[in-house]
Amino acid sequence: MTTTEKVRVPLASDDLRQVYGRFPTGVVAVCAEVDGAPVGLAVSTFVPVSLDPPLVSVCVRTASTTWPLLRRAPRLGISVLGSHHEGVARALAGPAEHRFRDVATEVRDDAALFVTEAPLALTVSVVDDVVAGDHLIVVCRVNEVLVDDGHGPLVFHRSALRPLVAA
Ligand SMILES: Cc1cc2nc3c(=O)[nH]c(=O)nc-3n(C[C@H](O)[C@H](O)[C@H](O)COP(=O)(O)O)c2cc1C
Repeated sequence: MTTTEKVRVPLASDDLRQVYGRFPTGVVAVCAEVDGAPVGLAVSTFVPVSLDPPLVSVCVRTASTTWPLLRRAPRLGISVLGSHHEGVARALAGPAEHRFRDVATEVRDDAALFVTEAPLALTVSVVDDVVAGDHLIVVCRVNEVLVDDGHGPLVFHRSALRPLVAA
């Protein structure tokens, strides 16, 4: 077994973003149709919170310009991105005016907007958003769940987006 040296990291936000990247996560798209236009962003902080009632959460920067728009929608779509959605994840993290240019989407339940062919799609409504430092913890109630097991997940690890590969 190889032992490697432990390195102490300063508690500065850029360093923390890097080190938290050691924790692999999925990536979701949180989207809605607002005033007839698609709005949304890529998020790696999705967490299933409660089974009964069904609650999930995401964390969004307090400085986000997209979140105040999404907050106005009566329903949001949370699409868990698949391994074929790497370009979608990058697009939905890019400049707001181009996010949906090449992304196939569908609207359900009035305003909830989904990326097509997502392994898991949740229609949710926001029940609370709590300020936690420079992020909001947004708690959502799940209204509908659709699964599509034809697609594997997209994994975000150490700044890279990759498919989940069996060992
Ligand atoms: C893989 C990935 C994960 C991300 N996760 C989050 C997240 O959990 N919370 C967040 O606020 N932004 C996250 N972002 C950044 C947003 O997708 C987006 O770039 C940012 O919100 C743009 O700013 P705006 O909200 O002002 O439009 C992530 C970006 C990428 C590429």
